[in-house]
Amino acid sequence: MPLRSARSGKMPRDAVHHPLFARYYARVSVSAETRMGMGGVRDRLLAGLSGRVIEIGAGNGLNFAHYPRTVSEVVAIEPERVLRQLAVEAALRADVPVDVVPGAAEALPVKSEAFDAAVLSIVLCSIRDVPRALGEVRRVLRPGGEVRFFEHGRGGGRMMTLTQRVLDRTVWPPLSGGCHVAREPVAALRDAGFELGPYRQVSLPEKGPRLPVSYCVLGTAWRPELGGPAAGK
Ligand SMILES: C[S@@+](CC[C@H](N)C(=O)[O-])C[C@H]1O[C@@H](n2cnc3c(N)ncnc32)[C@H](O)[C@@H]1O
Repeated sequence: MPLRSARSGKMPRDAVHHPLFARYYARVSVSAETRMGMGGVRDRLLAGLSGRVIEIGAGNGLNFAHYPRTVSEVVAIEPERVLRQLAVEAALRADVPVDVVPGAAEALPVKSEAFDAAVLSIVLCSIRDVPRALGEVRRVLRPGGEVRFFEHGRGGGRMMTLTQRVLDRTVWPPLSGGCHVAREPVAALRDAGFELGPYRQVSLPEKGPRLPVSYCVLGTAWRPELGGPAAGK
């Protein structure tokens, strides 16, 4: 049963509360599966994964249908209530067991070293404290565990990067559920002590004019087997 505040009797606020954006995202993300080729990207993101997987900021659960059967369990963390409810429904339709859990990336409600892989898709743009969140991802992955990521970030020429910076400081985050367009996901993973595996630039949509959110990167990183720069943080 959901907890209520003893003082007010009201439901506690979720760590992330963007009900309007959540409803908008639930609609556009479904059409982007085919219209923008996101379904194919999700297939490539998750191909070959196995074992226990944690997905951070699972949204409405669009990745769930793309997990290969070699995955034994997905723990899907989603802080936003509207999206989480949709993720629960998507989990029921998935071919692999998916447990949708409330929580935020900055304090993952799971044990250390419990997962073989972590999935980050279009989420580092929205997380408030990225270094802290990636520290948590490191904590919950076993040594040698894998990160699969598909993230958008800074890109394009000078005019585009300037536009991205201006958007991040003005209208974009309040209109887009806390999303930022000028972050650097690969650098953030490296700074958090992950070893970068192969990754490549992807443009979304693949054809047509580039938008501030078009500069994406799809790839792999690992928690080092031993130590590493962020060990013990
Ligand atoms: C653009 S949506 C992407 C959803 C999903 N990963 C996908 O691939 O469609 C960004 C997601 O990040 C979630 N999010 C925002 N802040 C978060 C945080 N601190 N911890 C975990 N998830 C967060 C949002 O609630 C939302 O579900």
